[in-house]
Amino acid sequence: MTVRVADHPRATTIAILGRKGGSAKSTTAYNLAGALIADGRRCLLVDLDSQASLTRALSDAPVPPDGGIGTRIAEPARGLRDSIRSLGPLLDLAPGDRSIEAAANALAQNPAGPLRLRLLLDEVAADYDAVILDTAPLLGFTQTAALLAGDLAIVPTRTGAQQDIDALVDIFALQEELARFRFATAAIAAILPSNFHADEAPQRDGLAALRASYGDLIAEPIPHSPLIERAINARAPVVANSPRSGVAAAFRALASRLQPAPAVP
Ligand SMILES: Nc1ncnc2c1ncn2[C@@H]1O[C@H](COP(=O)(O)OP(=O)(O)O)[C@@H](O)[C@H]1O
Ligand SMILES: [Mg+2]
Repeated sequence: MTVRVADHPRATTIAILGRKGGSAKSTTAYNLAGALIADGRRCLLVDLDSQASLTRALSDAPVPPDGGIGTRIAEPARGLRDSIRSLGPLLDLAPGDRSIEAAANALAQNPAGPLRLRLLLDEVAADYDAVILDTAPLLGFTQTAALLAGDLAIVPTRTGAQQDIDALVDIFALQEELARFRFATAAIAAILPSNFHADEAPQRDGLAALRASYGDLIAEPIPHSPLIERAINARAPVVANSPRSGVAAAFRALASRLQPAPAVP
């Protein structure tokens, strides 16, 4: 992989993709941010899911009627900056709400619509080391917008069911089709086996099959762990909330896939 977090004078944008609900996109977005923050990187989370589960989980203040990311996609001249809220010293959030659906509908006849996210993020990219895009579980506007805005993409996937593989193939097909039409798209940097039960044979077999098909693109699995829910309930990523756990180590490994090791002095 050639594009890495620390190579950029401006943020590396990382799209967390997948057209299936429950594949751990939001969990991955938040905990990858946590692992990057632990390395001193400044991160912006962008909530592109109209269900806004990350926004709701991480922030109590209601999203004002003109504060959702969709309102800015609908009207890019407004910029993103005044909608962004702080979640901690190194972590900000561009909140999501239903406005992303309204924007997608309003732009349905505008083929340039999904490119607007990239434009909005360009304006704030110098403020961050990483911008992480959480997406909605539909093969539609937000998957396309995130592919067009991202430098890198991560596709979390459950293992063990054919429908998970089908969903994965659809993301690769979308990326290839955009690239064929000469759009600059995120490079798929990792397929991330998520919520992985090592004690269940179908999941182990599914992981082996993924590795046989995709080789090194398969990242170290994120184990199933009750610490995931405990951490989000505490509004802390697992890397901060349970730093010595296996699941924290797996998110640190994911972060280090995306950035080179620090220079040896
Ligand atoms: N490694 C894990 N261990 C335990 N629960 C997990 C893990 N990863 C995800 N989950 C849970 O699975 C559910 C779906 O995850 P989520 O990140 O919301 O998926 P998505 O955003 O793709 O719909 C959530 O309740 C989340 O807490
Ligand atoms: Mg989600």
